[in-house]
Amino acid sequence: MTSTASASEPAGWLVTPLGRFAVRPGETLLATLLRTGHAVEYQCRSGYCGACRLKMAPAQRHALLPVQTALASVGSDEVLACCCRIAPAHQLDLTAIPHLSSIET
Ligand code: FES
Repeated sequence: MTSTASASEPAGWLVTPLGRFAVRPGETLLATLLRTGHAVEYQCRSGYCGACRLKMAPAQRHALLPVQTALASVGSDEVLACCCRIAPAHQLDLTAIPHLSSIET
């Protein structure tokens, strides 16, 4: 598969109750969530504490690529936000995750 994306195009898109955000190249899902002002739990950023665990439907998980091995146990309907990123040219819709809110609330 070839890519037609240029360096100035977003690496993907994140949609949450707070809005639609461009993903930066190489950025983990956790980094995207934190940079865009979402209240999400985390500790290690390395896949072993499990604090950044998010439940996702299969269609949501399809938009993700692994970036490091998850050492914490995760259910088949969960991902560790520090261990994945949004695939290039994909959009991850997390509007159905009720606890994702602004860090200012
Ligand atoms: S922050 Fe520890 S597993 Fe993601």
